[in-house]
Amino acid sequence: MALELAGLRKDYGLRALSREDLADDPLLQLKAWLTQAHAAGVREANAMTLATVGANGRPSSRIVLIKGIDSGLVWYTSYHSRKAVELAIHPFACLQFHWIDEERQVRIEGQVEKTSAAESDAYFASRPRPSQIGAWASPQSQVIASRRVLEQAEIALNLRYPNEVPRPPDWGGFRLIPDVFEFWQGRASRLHDRLVYRRAEGGWKIERLAP
Ligand SMILES: Cc1cc2nc3c(=O)[nH]c(=O)nc-3n(C[C@H](O)[C@H](O)[C@H](O)COP(=O)(O)O)c2cc1C
Repeated sequence: MALELAGLRKDYGLRALSREDLADDPLLQLKAWLTQAHAAGVREANAMTLATVGANGRPSSRIVLIKGIDSGLVWYTSYHSRKAVELAIHPFACLQFHWIDEERQVRIEGQVEKTSAAESDAYFASRPRPSQIGAWASPQSQVIASRRVLEQAEIALNLRYPNEVPRPPDWGGFRLIPDVFEFWQGRASRLHDRLVYRRAEGGWKIERLAP
């Protein structure tokens, strides 16, 4: 049976969102929503879409896992991946969470910087060994001849590093320092709640947007 895309729709009505519900600090608000999504059983609640812009002005996006929230939002990747090459040229990005069963999305914009080598080392050391080997084995975003290239690299790297696996020099973290957050809660009749934080003098300005 053909999928009738035009007829697929769902009305939302779990919750409402108003200014009084929001923390003054959007990083705390994000932590609260992430915690709620995880507690509600959303799978990979820490998965977020990362959008970057290439030198030619074309946007690209992919999913990464958030690994920390402090002054910004932290994720880890290969520094020679497409995303990293794009961030080196244009260090601004947009992140987005969508927790479908919570009827919520969050959009975050800001400037991106690399995490320190010490931070990347500490996170890399906490990863399971197969992920550590995988980071070495994959020339992320490069064209490879076949899957065999990866499998042979994995075997060779397990021999090269029988004990501790050091962090590859071209693998590490990025931190997005946010200046805009939008918290979105689905409502009935497509009249959703959208509240935006914008960094302002000494704090954050919060406004409501039309859905
Ligand atoms: C659920 C999920 C989590 C992912 N987490 C990461 C991650 O934390 N870091 C990463 O480099 N890639 C992650 N990926 C793979 C990326 O989406 C992407 O394919 C890869 O980073 C290459 O992207 P690029 O060529 O645009 O740089 C994840 C993919 C999925 C579906």
